[in-house]
Amino acid sequence: MTGPKKRLYIKTYGCQMNVYDSELMAQVLSADYTLTTQPEDADLYLINTCSIRAKSEEKVHSLLGRLRFLKKRRPQMLIGVGGCVAQQEGERLRQRVPHLDLVFGTHGIYRLPEMLRQVEDGGAPVVDTDYVEQFQIPPRRHWPPGQGKALVTIMQGCNNFCTYCVVPYVRGPEMSRPSGEIIQEVQNFLASGGREVTLLGQNVNSYGRGCPESLSFPQLLRELAALPGLARLRFTTSHPRDLSAELIQCFAELPALCEHIHLPVQSGSSRILSRMKRGYNRDDYLQRVRQLQAVCPEIAITTDLIVGFPGETEEDFQETLSLMQEVPFDNAFYFKYSPRPQTRAATFPGQIAESIKAARLARLKEIQDRLTRASHQRLVGQIKEVLVEGRSKQSTSQLSGRLRSNQVVNFTGSQELIGRLVQVRIEQACQHSLGGRALGCAGSC
Ligand code: SAH
Ligand code: SF4
Ligand code: F3S
Repeated sequence: MTGPKKRLYIKTYGCQMNVYDSELMAQVLSADYTLTTQPEDADLYLINTCSIRAKSEEKVHSLLGRLRFLKKRRPQMLIGVGGCVAQQEGERLRQRVPHLDLVFGTHGIYRLPEMLRQVEDGGAPVVDTDYVEQFQIPPRRHWPPGQGKALVTIMQGCNNFCTYCVVPYVRGPEMSRPSGEIIQEVQNFLASGGREVTLLGQNVNSYGRGCPESLSFPQLLRELAALPGLARLRFTTSHPRDLSAELIQCFAELPALCEHIHLPVQSGSSRILSRMKRGYNRDDYLQRVRQLQAVCPEIAITTDLIVGFPGETEEDFQETLSLMQEVPFDNAFYFKYSPRPQTRAATFPGQIAESIKAARLARLKEIQDRLTRASHQRLVGQIKEVLVEGRSKQSTSQLSGRLRSNQVVNFTGSQELIGRLVQVRIEQACQHSLGGRALGCAGSC
């Protein structure tokens, strides 16, 4: 390509897998495009979408509505929608939104340059929601300087079909990325000065299933944890049904593996779990938790919870509340059940009124807020390692990072610490974060 590069803006919604995919989009287009932080200057505006709840989808439509005005002012700007809503809606989205130039599905990222050429040549909008047979991403080689942590996708899709969930329909069947390519990508990141890696998949515990040439998930963890320079290893999301004894043992044996697991329980009621088709009951879940706590007493356990699943009674909901305290969770993401296209639960009888869902969510939040605060309070006075991620969102004079157990810590320190591991004394427990003091720093540090 000759001449200056064009400008690309990407707006990302949804989970960390979408964050990874957006980075991949920028990479795939890097021969012709450079990233901009100013949407109004973009030559290409991509939206990477999420469809997990109705609200996630509404956000995309409201952004598309606003973009109509930008497109009017700058008709040469191309607008593309990718990700899970694009996969779900495909052609319907193009028809509904006349100012769209491109709709591409969750398997289409590598075809982006070709699709854009088609749009530029023909001028007509392009829709591509085809699935690929094999999940192969060439190992990434470059990260921005000072980036201490990286996301690494290890699998795509999901075969579980939990009755509430749209993911299997928008991400396709489960496929594992070849282990060699994952290890190579992590090695490349470490060579660029990185310290922490989070492995991503909808159900990482079933990594390698059905591919004899791949390592199992615990084997992959062992290989990665042994790489020189890797200080921290994490993974998400892990399905409680498939949390094997071998994987639990990794928390006892691998020093790089962080003392944190995100283990979404969804409900504390075995009756509801069975209607969700989760494949475990309340006791199975608690048993896994006790095993984790036995091999790694410091482990922080976080979860996802859904309130108002069809047929959820007050007694079922009480069981969720009691489970939260029985574990107890260090933190939780909680959601009102949202009926999704194609999913079985959307057709179940006993759909719960919005007002009841909202009231249950508020009660649940009150309990989790208390638990999170108590978990933060227990850390006060301790000296902990923080991986510094950047400036704090609340106050730019402060740095922000995370503990191995994943809590956010804000403290005063100099710019050079970004991307580094620092010892911090925890001094203050807030609702969403901790406050601390970097050791070895003078004065107000
Ligand atoms: N693969 C992960 C979950 C990914 S989706 C797992 O199995 O644990 C992230 C979270 O969104 C889920 O854990 C669930 O709590 C929530 N979620 C998914 N579908 C939902 C729906 N239809 N309504 C409300 N919350 C939902
Ligand atoms: Fe959705 Fe269940 Fe798959 Fe998680 S395991 S992505 S909740 S279907
Ligand atoms: Fe959303 Fe798709 Fe992730 S539906 S949660 S962006 S896999």
